[in-house]
Amino acid sequence: MTEWTKLLPIKVLVTGGDGQVAHDLVLLGEQDNHFEFICLGLSALDVTSPDAIQQALDRYMPDYVVNTAAFNNVDAAEHEPERSFCVNRDAVKSLAVECGALSIPLIHLSTDHLFDGHYASGYSEDDDVSPLGVFGESKRQGEDLLRQYQPKHIILRVSWVFSARGDNYLLRTLENARKQAAIETADDRQGCPTSATDVGRVILAMIKQLENGADAWGTYHYCGAEVTTRYRFTEAILAAAGQYEALKTIDLVPVPSRALHVEVERPASSVLKCKKLLSTFGIRQRPWRSELVAVLRQIYQKDT
Ligand SMILES: NC(=O)c1ccc[n+]([C@@H]2O[C@H](COP(=O)([O-])OP(=O)(O)OC[C@H]3O[C@@H](n4cnc5c(N)ncnc54)[C@H](OP(=O)(O)O)[C@@H]3O)[C@@H](O)[C@H]2O)c1
Repeated sequence: MTEWTKLLPIKVLVTGGDGQVAHDLVLLGEQDNHFEFICLGLSALDVTSPDAIQQALDRYMPDYVVNTAAFNNVDAAEHEPERSFCVNRDAVKSLAVECGALSIPLIHLSTDHLFDGHYASGYSEDDDVSPLGVFGESKRQGEDLLRQYQPKHIILRVSWVFSARGDNYLLRTLENARKQAAIETADDRQGCPTSATDVGRVILAMIKQLENGADAWGTYHYCGAEVTTRYRFTEAILAAAGQYEALKTIDLVPVPSRALHVEVERPASSVLKCKKLLSTFGIRQRPWRSELVAVLRQIYQKDT
């Protein structure tokens, strides 16, 4: 038994419980008997209601809260700014206030969309933020309020999250490849894909160290190892999926982002530098390629 182990499991309340990161975090954490999870989807805990947050904290008395709840639709956020600010900013403030009052550490997920993407070499935690759209701006303001109202917090910014469930680029690519003979994809956007399971691994590792007394509150970046482009990521998805399924797509077409007609510009570089996480927590990046293989195995095993 390692020194940090408590006699009772660490009780972690997870918001946004139907989302991809929440699902994979809990699945991974349940294999580790040091944790107990209360995983609450939107119908069980709407984080836009301060009363509902207070009631959930009073009822479950968690040791940690992990906030994965978010309005993540980058294009829809341009048309629904109220919803975006309500979930990504105001609800984060409510969580911070309630967790602060009870001294419950709050671990909050954030995004590469805080950056404008002009630094090809990538972004570290100290770099200035400059979001390109409503989604990024709402997440930025959520971060600021969290810092203001609950000093015992971790903000974990992640990028290009994929998993075997939910709405993500990997699943949308497979869907398109089943229907379309050609897929156009940006070859001028670079980033690091990150599996939801890997995000879960990082969160659990951080909680264990915080529980052991690490005084390491603050903002961190995490993403899978190896910088790639959207085009190369798509190519990797199709190549790996092709081992399981004959896909209709035979033509993968590299195009500039501006040709893709999205509502809001995406950061040209979403690369997050992860040195601070390594130097503070000793947590290393895992290669996204092996995570991709594992996620595709999950997808196709589920289907058989
Ligand atoms: N996905 C990515 O590529 C990516 C990249 C960078 C950062 N992140 C961040 O990582 C975190 C987790 O992302 P994810 O990919 O797991 O997102 P996800 O799959 O969209 O999960 C978010 C969950 O939050 C729920 N939700 C929305 N409004 C809510 C509310 N008012 N109260 C409670 N729950 C609510 C959503 O429900 P509905 O689906 O019913 O709305 C969804 O189940 C988010 O903070 C996100 O911004 C994600």
